[in-house]
Parts: sequence; C-alpha cells; structure tokens
Amino acid sequence: MTHRIGVLLSGRGSNFEALADSVSAGRIPNAEISVVISNKPSAPGLERAKSRGIPARAIPSKGLEREAYDRQVVAVLQEYKVNLICLAGYMRLLSPHFVAAFPQRILNIHPSLLPSFPGLESQKQALDYGVKFAGCTVHLVDENLDAGPIIRQAVVPVLDTDDEHTLSERILKEEHRIYTEAVNIILEGNYKIAGRRVIRSA
Ligand code: GRF
Repeated sequence: MTHRIGVLLSGRGSNFEALADSVSAGRIPNAEISVVISNKPSAPGLERAKSRGIPARAIPSKGLEREAYDRQVVAVLQEYKVNLICLAGYMRLLSPHFVAAFPQRILNIHPSLLPSFPGLESQKQALDYGVKFAGCTVHLVDENLDAGPIIRQAVVPVLDTDDEHTLSERILKEEHRIYTEAVNIILEGNYKIAGRRVIRSA
C-alpha cells in the first residue's frame, strides 16, 4: 500500500521540500506526497510543489470561521485520499473537526524543544531566555497550540555568537532530518501511545 501524505504550509516550504526529497530518494518508502495545501495563496511552498509535479492548492482562509475553513481543507485531503498529514510551517490552529477527521495521523514540526517556547518566534524566545541548548520537535497534533505527544526531538547548542538567523539555520537543518524520521515511525506503525509518551516497539 502506498502511504498518501498531505502537506499543509503557509510559507517557504523547506520542510515540505525535505520530505519530498526523502520520498523521492526512498528514505520514506512506499509513500507519495499526494497534495500540498496552503492557506496563503502567495506561499512559495506552493510553487515549489508545482515545480515537482505535486498537486498544489491554495485555500484562502481569510474571513472564514475556523471550522468552516477546516471543513474545506479536510474535504480536499479526503479527495486526495490522504492518510497522513504533515504540517510544515502551517500557521493555523486546527479545529476539533479537523483533528477528529484524522485521529493520530497529523504531525507538526516546531523549532523548539517543546514544551519550551511554543508559538511564534521560538528561536528568538530561546535566545532571549538565554538557554544553552535549543532544538526542534515533531509531535502529534491536537487542537491546542504546539501540544500533543512528542515523536522526535533534536538538540543543538546555542553559541555565544548566535543571532536569531544563525540559530534558526542550525535548528532548521535538524528539522529537515527529524521530520523524515518521525514520518517513518508513524508510517511503520511500530509504536504505542501511553499517556503523552510515544513508545517504539522493539
Ligand atoms: C519551521 O521552522 C517550522 O519548524 C515552523 O515553521 C518553519 C517553517 O519553515 N513550524 P519552512 O516553511 O518549512 O521552510
């Protein structure tokens, strides 16, 4: 069976491209990215998808209630028979309707070691706080912000010379690596969820 992945994004789409590269290279086996959807019609990630021959849809969210909007997105994901959804810089909270439509099948990547620094500008939050280590997290998505059981994390050092840009770059490299690993864990299915813990089977 081919796993059918849907990617949701709002911006440049480097995490989408990392996933697409992993699929093309066979690092995510038996899978395809079936559709890329953006709530922002101008998102560069949409063009990046089209240039790879992947169906790309803009579904503008402006002016719509959360659930009314999500119903449109869910309908398109169902149209493409998607069975795993990867949020990749998708700047919206999901409604309970959306989460219930794909139970335990929605992943998000966040540029901090959650539960530290959820929300926007996580790398700046980490620098301002003065932490010595930062990182990124892939987690299952529920209707809360940057919550849900953690699948994979990676740690990077914060250097004295760092600014937001250099720290973000270091973290982004790890994001691209662990998103593929997390997708494989979920697609292989060798895990169980105990409370908040995602525990891999031997
Ligand atoms: C990444 O840092 C991701 O962790 C966060 O938004 C950013 C998206 O970057 N959720 P890109 O669009 O994947 O390049």
